[in-house]
Amino acid sequence: MFISFEGPDGSGKSTQIEALAAELRAAGREVVTVREPGGTPAGEKIRAILLGEGGTVPVDPRADALLFNASRAQLVADVIEPALARGAIVIADRFADSTLAYQGYGSGLPLDALRAIIRFATAGRIPDLTLLLDLDAGHGLARKSGRGRTRFEEGFDAAFHERVAAGFRALAAAEPTRWHLLDASAERGHLAAQISTIVRGALAATR
Ligand code: TYD
Repeated sequence: MFISFEGPDGSGKSTQIEALAAELRAAGREVVTVREPGGTPAGEKIRAILLGEGGTVPVDPRADALLFNASRAQLVADVIEPALARGAIVIADRFADSTLAYQGYGSGLPLDALRAIIRFATAGRIPDLTLLLDLDAGHGLARKSGRGRTRFEEGFDAAFHERVAAGFRALAAAEPTRWHLLDASAERGHLAAQISTIVRGALAATR
């Protein structure tokens, strides 16, 4: 099973992913966690370019879209497909839907063009389950300290982040079987329990 977590910056994805992975491992499952961009040696270099380490960043959102998907292609081929093939559960901290939300809804690139790039990069691999940790955009950014912020958090205005958050909600509404929308402002343990129920239900359904 392939599970992705999506949501605006600061929605608490990584904390929830750690908790879910620990729970599934304790139940005897092999769990592989990945983060985007990155997760392979080439992908980490692409991540450094995208996040502006070293002082330069792409300026055209088309370049962003292609770089995110170059990193993604390598991750799918080297990590995600082999893990799924041996029966592991893969949990991704962001996947292709982030490109649609950020470069599409956020930066205004056409969704159909982005979908074609994503299909090519992923060879058609789609998560079985996507958990949207929904949060008001301003709230999420406020949760992150200035130091930990990426260029996507620093460099874009509040309206950009509102479009991203609304984009995620639109994607979730369009594919309600795959997506589960969760209120990320809920108490951490409560959110973890909701996620656990959803994932256990999905795992039971595949047996
Ligand atoms: P990261 O530090 O991983 O942020 P987070 O912890 O919030 O996931 O930085 C990734 C940034 O890149 C984040 O602001 C979202 C953005 N992004 C895109 O714009 N497009 C994409 O396809 C992906 C995967 C991420």
